[in-house]
Amino acid sequence: MGQLEHISEIADGRLLRLDLGASHPYLATHPDDVQQVLRRESENFIRDGVFWRPLRELMGDSILAEGAEWEHSKRVLQPVFTTRNVNTLTDLMAEAINDAVDKLDEPARAGTPIDVLPEMCRIVNETVIKVLFGDKISRSEADLLIPTFDQIATKIAFRFLLPFVPRAIPMPGDRAFRDAVQVMDDTLFALVERYRNDPGPGQDIFTALCHARTAEGSGLDDRWVRDNLLAMFSTSTETTTLALTWLWPLLHDHPEVAERLQTEIQGVVGTERVRASHLDHLPYVKQVVQELLRLYPVGWMFPRMATEPTDMRGVRIRPGDTVLISPYLTHRLKSVWDEPARFDPDRFLPERARHYHRYAYFPFGGGPHQCIGRHIFNVEAQLILTSILSRFRPRLSEAVPAEPQIGATLRPRKPIEMTLIPHRRSA
Ligand code: HEM
Repeated sequence: MGQLEHISEIADGRLLRLDLGASHPYLATHPDDVQQVLRRESENFIRDGVFWRPLRELMGDSILAEGAEWEHSKRVLQPVFTTRNVNTLTDLMAEAINDAVDKLDEPARAGTPIDVLPEMCRIVNETVIKVLFGDKISRSEADLLIPTFDQIATKIAFRFLLPFVPRAIPMPGDRAFRDAVQVMDDTLFALVERYRNDPGPGQDIFTALCHARTAEGSGLDDRWVRDNLLAMFSTSTETTTLALTWLWPLLHDHPEVAERLQTEIQGVVGTERVRASHLDHLPYVKQVVQELLRLYPVGWMFPRMATEPTDMRGVRIRPGDTVLISPYLTHRLKSVWDEPARFDPDRFLPERARHYHRYAYFPFGGGPHQCIGRHIFNVEAQLILTSILSRFRPRLSEAVPAEPQIGATLRPRKPIEMTLIPHRRSA
């Protein structure tokens, strides 16, 4: 049993107090407790404290902040993510995804295995840049930004996991982290400079931020645009990339699910290029993505800090106490889920899904900070999965350990290699 499975067994719905040396956060896994923190007492449990410090230092006053700064950024960005606006973006998204997946044809024809994580990263980035950032980030800027964000995401993990180590004590990754932030700042500030006063009419994140920046008396500066660009780029790419990376080992271990998916997709999409309108006819694809995020909710753990005294499960929580919330652990509780370790997309048949506690399954969090990218993610993930499986049959080179590496997000422990076998097409 892996480390995380072990914690999940011990926690099973109880409120635990962890001993992390200098700090003793609570770990709340029961759906009622999660609801109390994220929803019922969301004003008491805020995004502050030592765990948030590295992110706060990196993205200051962005949508990942708290209070007035968060509210302001959210007001500007929310319109990009309404169901209505997302629906207008889906055809563009399908097109971008098909183009990105086209580049898998060559290794598939040659029978060369692909390295899954960087390929998913490429597909997601090409899509996100075109659709969410209005194609304002050039190829060469993207080539700089993508590995830089990757550096930042991995390096920040040390600080995230050991937040109590004072800044003066050097840690592995500190230097590379600083260098990466410098490269990113140079690129992002140059972009803001170029588009600040004339972003154009698009419905994308970049345009929304620049319009808010230049609005009469807005008081917003370039730093605010940069913080939000960084926040949005990192939340929209790393999460989607990692979720889609875990899909392939799951399909490898569950050939019956892979077979059902292939059959559904062949029946609906056939030899066409996938379109957003296909998704309405692909219910199993949707269930597979939901179950994927049950087992691998890539924002696997997030902390809150109490500002007022309160009670949880009969325990007194004091101001300043940290409560950790983990979709990964709650999604694997034996008291909540039947055979939690099993990958079973039929859990999300609508008639079954209706009966779960609202906070038994919360890959996108809940309450006022609930993920604003959830509709985008769902459409994007379903389109990428469908586009790839409509053309290829995936074959993993070897089985992959199911237990992820613990970091700020959930990464596989080693590279995943996969060969794509093109479907035989009748002429
Ligand atoms: C697998 C995909 C994703 C997962 C698992 C995920 C997960 C989450 C979670 C758990 C939160 C809540 C954090 C908290 O309560 O402190 C969150 C917030 C957020 N997510 Fe996502 N996310 C995903 C994709 C995306 C995408 C594609 C975008 C943007 C396009 C995005 C943008 C955001 C933003 C901006 C917030 C902060 C919202 C706020 O505080 O008001 N996420 N996400």
